[in-house]
Amino acid sequence: MTVTRTPVVVFISGSGSNLHALLEDSRKPDCPFRVCAVVADVAAPGLAHAEAHGIPHHVVRLADFPDREAWNRELARVATSYAPTYLVLAGFMRLLGAPVLEAFPDKIINTHPALLPSFPGPHGVRDALAYGVKVSGVSVIMVDAGVDTGRIIAQEAVTVADDDTVETLHERIKERERPLLVSVLRSLCEQGVPAAP
Ligand code: GRF
Repeated sequence: MTVTRTPVVVFISGSGSNLHALLEDSRKPDCPFRVCAVVADVAAPGLAHAEAHGIPHHVVRLADFPDREAWNRELARVATSYAPTYLVLAGFMRLLGAPVLEAFPDKIINTHPALLPSFPGPHGVRDALAYGVKVSGVSVIMVDAGVDTGRIIAQEAVTVADDDTVETLHERIKERERPLLVSVLRSLCEQGVPAAP
């Protein structure tokens, strides 16, 4: 059976374990997506995964541009040059602006290590732990102009242990996050964006 693979571009800022999960899944014969490029806003360690898989990768640093608008225009230019159907933000730690959002309307997904709408922003794990929640988890959302305000596509809960630290809780969340992100991307590529409730 020949699978037509949907092209995706992945944005990262960090260690890239979610990227790695996507790349490993993309090697499977039944995988409906292929990662055509990886874009980072810093010299992220996770770019090594792109390198190991022979995937083109780019570092587009905010500091190299006069303002966020120009940086966003360059991100949009680099991403659109691969003609992807979806952008996947896999630990990309910056807010995207209009040039990118308008180039990929309803086609950008993000993963967040908390149960949105609780604990949005860059410190979701720390904030949930500090609040004292007994259950946290992971959310995969469609990206809009807000900070983690987009439509929720999928979530999974993770129980918080009494002795959890930010690191131990985040690691357990990431164990659930990676397969959830893969499964959401597979569904999007196979069935499209789910209807709004
Ligand atoms: C993930 O938990 C993501 O949700 C958060 O940062 C982490 C990135 O992990 N924003 P990795 O770089 O994919 O390992």
